[in-house]
Amino acid sequence: MTSPNDSIHLKIRRAGPDAESRVAEYDVPPQAAASLLDALRWVRAHQDDTLAFRYACINANACKECMMRLDGKVVYACLAKLEPGSSHTVEPLPNKPLVRDLVTEIAPPKERLFAGEDDDDDE
Ligand code: FES
Repeated sequence: MTSPNDSIHLKIRRAGPDAESRVAEYDVPPQAAASLLDALRWVRAHQDDTLAFRYACINANACKECMMRLDGKVVYACLAKLEPGSSHTVEPLPNKPLVRDLVTEIAPPKERLFAGEDDDDDE
């Protein structure tokens, strides 16, 4: 049985590419947060549907799109386990262009949609 003290507290750095970043805080029931990805999906479904993060395979560790920082370490959100009653800081990847919130540009430039518009070899 869980108590309210078992909630998992997330402090999530949020911003758009041109906006000042801010920290948004959420409490997630532990039964909804076996992984960080599960917790983020719960937040988006129940508390804030504007929270942006990327994933494609949901806990299968196949797509590699859920990379972000958890307490300063780069993790796959779908593999990062969260303990009841714990508190964590969640941030986007460092050294990658920020798209929004926890989403960074991870595709190589040549593989992006509309890639090459400014490339010299398009002629
Ligand atoms: S959601 Fe696909 S690897 Fe994490």
